[in-house]
Amino acid sequence: MAEDRNMAVVTCSAPVNIAVIKYWGKRDEEAILPINSSLSVTLHQDQLKTTTTVAVSRDFKEDRIWLNGTEDNITHPRLQTCLREIRRLARKRRNSGDENCNTFPTVSYKVHICSANNFPTAAGLASSAAGYACLVYALAKLYGLEGELSEIARQGSGSACRSMYGGFVQWVMGEKTDGSDSIAQQIKPESHWPELRVLILVVSAERKPVGSTTGMQTSVKTSPLLKHRAEKIVPERMKEMTEAIQCRDFESFAQITMKESNQFHATCLDTFPPIFYLNDISRRIINLVHKYNSHHGETRVAYTFDAGPNAVIYTLHHHVEEFVEVVKHFFPPEENGGQFLKGLPVKSVSLSEQLKSSIQTDPVKAGIQYIISTKVGPGPQLMEGPNHHLLGKDGLPK
Ligand code: DP6
Repeated sequence: MAEDRNMAVVTCSAPVNIAVIKYWGKRDEEAILPINSSLSVTLHQDQLKTTTTVAVSRDFKEDRIWLNGTEDNITHPRLQTCLREIRRLARKRRNSGDENCNTFPTVSYKVHICSANNFPTAAGLASSAAGYACLVYALAKLYGLEGELSEIARQGSGSACRSMYGGFVQWVMGEKTDGSDSIAQQIKPESHWPELRVLILVVSAERKPVGSTTGMQTSVKTSPLLKHRAEKIVPERMKEMTEAIQCRDFESFAQITMKESNQFHATCLDTFPPIFYLNDISRRIINLVHKYNSHHGETRVAYTFDAGPNAVIYTLHHHVEEFVEVVKHFFPPEENGGQFLKGLPVKSVSLSEQLKSSIQTDPVKAGIQYIISTKVGPGPQLMEGPNHHLLGKDGLPK
């Protein structure tokens, strides 16, 4: 924590996570308690991250927040819950007589929050997960709080609790009505499976038509398939997926991932009125992956889709080059469309005619805007040094 004369300031970054066992549906809207457990992979922050600076000062007149350069509404209920819960923990510790408390700022000061993403917001790329995880982590650092924080991040956005850890993370649904056992836990760290690679195929960077919160509310009310899935299918898949990750069994990991994505979108279709997150390009990607895998006679790549049309592809490092080439071939980028491949570099290779003809699909020009190539990454980080702060010495965005 850096202290200016009157201001204490902390900057942190937090990752995006992509679920391989999906969270969809709450049993408690207020506390954000899910109807099933879920499991995700944390993506590397070199490619996708939220950065958040939090500052407190006796000179600040009110709590304020800026998101991606614009001042936003601090009275948002979920934001207020996170602020209240963190302040409650800080007060509790202070009242417990902990001597270290005096090195941290007092809870009564107003807070300024400034947050920015290095990727398109609300494009179905789990920006709220990284955002709330980052806010909770940064505030905890500011007040010197340690311990279980995923419970607070969860109350910002359900999937945010999983962004509190790196590697492979489960969100245990819990049973208690107060939500104290509905927390995230790391299954394996990011170093566990270094061969695993992630490609984000950005189909559309526009806002999603139906947000996750409203979408899942309607699904819980109307979809019998969702109820069956939560009670009967997910518990078994959680076990199978955990085992696949522990054994680095890509075949099982990939199969469950694809089936999960498909079942999640089936519950969206089973919702009344139905919700459509996939578009024609998404469906073409699904077909492409299946044809690619069947050409090779093994599962080399897996897709998953959240509440939007963008595909997230999991594969292993020795298959990345060929698959990226396949994507480029069947979704040729627009000339002058900017950089098509962002993130971790991928070498160009040539594709065999046999592979091209066994995929047998008409190319769709500019169907995919760009690819972000990344890998599994660590949890939230403290960013030391004043250069990282998004707020200046006056407590306003730089
Ligand atoms: C499809 O966490 O965004 O990405 O808890 O209402 O904020 P709220 O929803 P959110 O839902 C994410 C849904 C999902 C699946 C997942 O990440 O598990």
